[in-house]
Amino acid sequence: MAEPLRIALAGLGTVGAGVIRVIEANQALIARRAGRPIEIVAISARDRNRQRGVDLSRYAWEDDMVILGEKPEVDVVVELVGGSDGPALACARTTIEAGKSLVTANKAMIAHHGLELAAKAEAAKVALKFEAAVAGGIPVIKGLREGAAANAIERVYGILNGTCNFILSTMEDTGRDFADVLAEAQAKGYAEADPAFDIEGTDAAHKLAILASIAFGSKVDFRSVDTAGITRLRAADIAQADALGYVIRLIGMADTEAQNGSNRLFQRVQPHLVAFDHPLAHVDGATNAVVAEGNFSGRLLFQGAGAGEGPTASAVVADLIDIARGELGAPFSVPVAELEEMAPADTGHRQGRSYIRFMAADRPGVLAEITAALRDAGVSIESLIQKGRAGDAEAVMVSMVTHEGPESAVRKAIELLDGSSALSEPPLVMHLLGN
Ligand code: HSE
Repeated sequence: MAEPLRIALAGLGTVGAGVIRVIEANQALIARRAGRPIEIVAISARDRNRQRGVDLSRYAWEDDMVILGEKPEVDVVVELVGGSDGPALACARTTIEAGKSLVTANKAMIAHHGLELAAKAEAAKVALKFEAAVAGGIPVIKGLREGAAANAIERVYGILNGTCNFILSTMEDTGRDFADVLAEAQAKGYAEADPAFDIEGTDAAHKLAILASIAFGSKVDFRSVDTAGITRLRAADIAQADALGYVIRLIGMADTEAQNGSNRLFQRVQPHLVAFDHPLAHVDGATNAVVAEGNFSGRLLFQGAGAGEGPTASAVVADLIDIARGELGAPFSVPVAELEEMAPADTGHRQGRSYIRFMAADRPGVLAEITAALRDAGVSIESLIQKGRAGDAEAVMVSMVTHEGPESAVRKAIELLDGSSALSEPPLVMHLLGN
């Protein structure tokens, strides 16, 4: 058998411990598929003494994870520390600058610094791989880079955050409240260290920005992702959506269009209403699902566990197997210098249907004021539900679904209602996921 691929692990949290377990449990089959064994030669983490449920005594400990890549006995560093900057980024830079390959599950770092790291990796002729950064165990990056490589991708969208999907589908099934279900997601190891990244949509936006770059050959542009999370959703929204024939899912969506003579990039993460008969309506729990529409392949659906120890570790080790086989390739599918700089797309003319929810005073004329604003903005209502006041609540919930029309019209209606004394909070707008 050929020389082993010698790896160092930086970070021994849920995923790091999982990587050790996968490599130990599947050692022989991994060696057969990779053409050589994968051997852990060094490990490092913030806390040496934490119990992780794996025996670390057989691996050499290094206190400073940043210098792992500089060790002569290390071929690849696996960065599983997390965080867009700090030790993770320092470790990534040192590794690549030392001429070693890097595997990471760090979506925040790749969304913010992926282009810099990829350019460095291309110059050093080493690999930079991050399959585990997007949709956990689902091989969606490989799917786009390799399986769908012959296609122009027209649109990519899906459920990219397991925590939000777990929260939404569990609230839907059990009627439990948001905070209670979030605590369960954290206990199960789905949530980020700071769960605000999950529930405010940032984690999904990191992943979407990475996917969009690979799908469209554009420069990663996390900052232009139009992002909203699930924190404003009420159990009543879920019930209203259900009554109208929809479930609510946090969807990340990206496409491109020509505007003013150049390609523009559309990227949005928002809760959407998804019709019961859409495949994404049946994606429950911490599952992720990504749809990519290729101009020859047609619609491709990738689905699986988007978080958790085993699935994420599985994706990390798949990257290591690729490196052991000598498969390097441009990290973003085409060399960084050839990625297109795309300005964010204007969205006003995009056609679609929306759900709009108002918390309104229960007095004469309020519904007339809301519908007048919609009329004046040119928004046509398809269906509308007003719920009676719950208990001693001051406001009633009025929710509606619009007919298809431009997004600018809905925005205009919301502007017209800005500051209205009839509304106790700003209206909540969610798009309906079209087919
Ligand atoms: N917090 C992430 C999620 C973990 O819930 O999907 C995987 O990236």
